[in-house]
Amino acid sequence: MQTASHAHLLTVARMVVYLYFCLCFVFNFLKISKVFFSPSADGVCVFKCLVNRDTEYCRVGKESVLITLGYNSALLQFKSHSEYSTFSNALKRCWNQKKEHSVFNQRTEEASAAQYFQFYGCLSQQQNMMQDFVRTATYHRAILQNHIDFKDKVVLDVGCGSGILSFFAVQAGARKVYAVEASSVAKYAEILVRSNNLSDKIMVLSGKIEEISLPENVDVVISEPMGYMLFNERMLESYLHSKKWLKSNGMMFPTFSDIHLAPFSDEQLYMEHYSRANFWYQQCFYGVNLSSLRSAAVDEYFRQPIVDTFDIRILMARTVKYTVNFTEAEEEDLHRVEIPFVFQMMQSGLIHGLAFWFDVAFVGSLVTVWLSTAPTEPLTHWYQVRCLLQTPLFAKEGETLSGKVLFVANKRQSYDIQIVAVVDQTGFKSGNILDLKNPFFRYKVLLRLKMSALKLSSNTVFCKQEHNYHNRSGDWLSAVPVVGAPNPLPQFP
Ligand SMILES: C[S@@+](CC[C@H](N)C(=O)[O-])C[C@H]1O[C@@H](n2cnc3c(N)ncnc32)[C@H](O)[C@@H]1O
Repeated sequence: MQTASHAHLLTVARMVVYLYFCLCFVFNFLKISKVFFSPSADGVCVFKCLVNRDTEYCRVGKESVLITLGYNSALLQFKSHSEYSTFSNALKRCWNQKKEHSVFNQRTEEASAAQYFQFYGCLSQQQNMMQDFVRTATYHRAILQNHIDFKDKVVLDVGCGSGILSFFAVQAGARKVYAVEASSVAKYAEILVRSNNLSDKIMVLSGKIEEISLPENVDVVISEPMGYMLFNERMLESYLHSKKWLKSNGMMFPTFSDIHLAPFSDEQLYMEHYSRANFWYQQCFYGVNLSSLRSAAVDEYFRQPIVDTFDIRILMARTVKYTVNFTEAEEEDLHRVEIPFVFQMMQSGLIHGLAFWFDVAFVGSLVTVWLSTAPTEPLTHWYQVRCLLQTPLFAKEGETLSGKVLFVANKRQSYDIQIVAVVDQTGFKSGNILDLKNPFFRYKVLLRLKMSALKLSSNTVFCKQEHNYHNRSGDWLSAVPVVGAPNPLPQFP
């Protein structure tokens, strides 16, 4: 058995012992459970401790368990798998009571979480993200160009996926990386760590960041927690949650994010949305009149944020920016995000909605590196997102459009979005309520149209960058063929 202090693992006893123990839940009503490690065969009590449902633990390797005991952690190495199983099952029973109450579980419907982690458990989805060249190369640059922030440091990678960011941290000189991953892809990350001979540096911990335990506090937290419109997936909250393991002067990579919004004019998009609902206008669909559902269909389509890209000339005013500072923000700050706006119109015309995108900044000791998803920058798998207004608003150049966007978190790992907007000079008012969990992936439709127009053959190189990316977790809902960039070329039928 080995024990560890929160600063570093200290070997207390390396000898293999016969560990006999019993678990007593006699004080369960006090939420206290006891673990007694009774004497080994030679009569020496090696270790004795109390655990309760708040005791954090995780599995390490095949026959070890890491548990946190106040300021200390203990790495328990069992002699046989059956000893390990008996112990960990008992601990699990205790822990399960806690899991039900974890921050993640409290804020997430079980069905949503299951679907979400199943999605990220697929290597193909990890590959999609890794192949987003702008994303992965920017993370690589941000970490390596700030190598002094990583040299000999202890790093936490929140939602490590394949472990790619953990490898970057090691390349930058990290002494130890704790790579936490809740989906089943954790096992693949572990394989990569071993096959790259980095088991001494990277420790993959399988579990949710809200539920796992680390043996020590860390100098830097790295993560890629951004979803569509920045907030989708609610993984930013998990990223902020991880600060409980960050030393007081520790760093967050990324450090802050700016979400940008601007009014746009796009008649075609607006009409397209209406005509999507025209199916329900039919009065004789196999003899059935569908028209009573048309307005419900229009409502449903208008609740969908639209994921695609656009020409920036559709933007009618300078953007408004809202910043989330990851070093300062708390999880609760993201439960309700209100973004007030006043746009000074730079052209006259119909405003059909608001366009959104975000940037994140890695503020290192040597350089600040930006990852941008702006429509002026090379496209990423986040694209940009547009929200339509229920009715377009006419405004003249020089007038102001004011109002607010309200993001209210829901238990489906997403947000309900409310928009209200008024042209101050005329009093014309509009708005909309949207469901970020159910976006419309318009770029896929455009891609299909373009491909059929071009009649692409199977070996055609489709090099328009804007269509080289498969989207991310919006597709916990629906899978589409993967197109990747810049590596393997997509195969089109
Ligand atoms: C966007 S992916 C990033 C993967 C990897 N870091 C990369 O950059 O390629 C986010 C990962 O975080 C994991 N994840 C999300 N929420 C988590 C949580 N609360 N605890 C642990 N992992 C989580 C997901 O399963 C997914 O693999």
